[in-house]
Amino acid sequence: MFDTDIVWKRIGYMGPLMGIVFIYLLCRYSASKFGAQAQKPPTPKTEKDPKFGTWKPVHFDYPTITPFPTDPMENKPIPYRPFRAGEYPVTMGIRAMDSDEWIEIDEEYLAYQRIRSHRIQTRGEEVIRVLHDNPGLVSSGAGASIELVHELAEYLSRRFPTMFEIVRHSSSVVSESTGWYGLPPIKSIRVLPVGKSYEIPMHLDDGENAAVRALEIASLMIQEDIVIMVEGTDGRYYFQAGAVLIAGFWRMQDKIGMPLDEIHNSGHVPRYKEKLQTGMGRLFQKLPVDKPVARHNYFFQAVKPPGEGVVSLDPEELAWSETLLGPEDNFKKAHSDQQETRPTYTPSHIRLRTERQTLRRLPRTGAIAFTIRTYLTPVEHLKHEPGVVRRLAGALRGWGQDISEYKGKDAGGGWWDVLMEYLDKCSDEKMQEDQAKLVAAEPQYPF
Ligand code: HEM
Repeated sequence: MFDTDIVWKRIGYMGPLMGIVFIYLLCRYSASKFGAQAQKPPTPKTEKDPKFGTWKPVHFDYPTITPFPTDPMENKPIPYRPFRAGEYPVTMGIRAMDSDEWIEIDEEYLAYQRIRSHRIQTRGEEVIRVLHDNPGLVSSGAGASIELVHELAEYLSRRFPTMFEIVRHSSSVVSESTGWYGLPPIKSIRVLPVGKSYEIPMHLDDGENAAVRALEIASLMIQEDIVIMVEGTDGRYYFQAGAVLIAGFWRMQDKIGMPLDEIHNSGHVPRYKEKLQTGMGRLFQKLPVDKPVARHNYFFQAVKPPGEGVVSLDPEELAWSETLLGPEDNFKKAHSDQQETRPTYTPSHIRLRTERQTLRRLPRTGAIAFTIRTYLTPVEHLKHEPGVVRRLAGALRGWGQDISEYKGKDAGGGWWDVLMEYLDKCSDEKMQEDQAKLVAAEPQYPF
């Protein structure tokens, strides 16, 4: 039954409440109209400008960075083993990343730097490039490149204070306080292990090629490769700047300028359309500035047997997997090519290549900074790691035809058979026993 008494009673209680709400809304309206709004921090950090290809700089409360507890250059490379036995999972595999862990440095720092600086000197814009605006579609990656080098200098000097020393602009000379925590911006950074200092460009017109210089400085400070993705007016993310020095299987010159989908489709990434495209598009559009993420992948590569054209600067073929793919300069997506002569590999020639990739949105330009850290491990070292050899054999048996082709099972003539035989040999009965004990204690992915 409809009880009018109850209705009137309720209206009676709600009357004063509605009055309060009305007065509150009126105050907010007058505040915004007459300028009180200006005192509030800019747009909330998770709110994205609704128009594609535009970005309002957001206020970002930078996290406190914990200094690395020991000398990072005495640190062993982190043994990521991102595989599981069973069917190969095609997923984005994104996990939240702790802000402390953006960049990883280890005992191979100097060896990586030798290779990286040699690549910059010998390959120039093949490995570091910043694209101009593509009018009406997407803006340049230049602003984000400069933002990124400042972000890195802020982070590295806090995370690895034994390796990086900074000097800030004087606040009496530079009025901007664009450094972290409202400090003046960084003027220069000294990389102590290599004894080099770099003046960090402040703006796009700060000397010649300021943005390219910014990426060059960034590359010479860290072991990671860098990609800058900028949102276009069509809502897609474009590869607008990068310092890709040691990608191993792909060349920046073949991908720069492309949107995310084309980058992956042109590389024939298996099941991209069905399993990855939509989720990745959404991730890029929505990634909040305070929620960086990371993902991992793995490949294999072979290196030349000793004495057969080994290049001494990079005998592990970190920068380019020449033994599998042939010369970098003639490369044409040759993952599945069969070689005419089958090299005689042994397990000692085969490397596990893992990547740790991170994604962070830069608060001032809104671009996404994508980093790729590569680790190379001789497969013979894996037998010392509990449970890994057997898990890897199980993972490899789970590659379907498309994954096998993509991961170069037949490239370079014969590494797969050698690897499988080796893994099976190591998984003898005793090892299986040991590993069974370890299953219960298996650490969390990516192990
Ligand atoms: C959430 C972000 C991303 C996901 C989930 C993703 C996913 C993938 C996957 C699944 C592959 C196949 C190899 C593997 O297992 O990793 C791949 C390859 C690749 N990705 Fe991405 N990717 C992401 C971001 C990017 C970005 C920002 C770039 C920009 C350059 C990029 C460039 C490439 C390239 C060049 C390859 C190799 C393609 C080839 O073989 O030619 N990826 N990606």
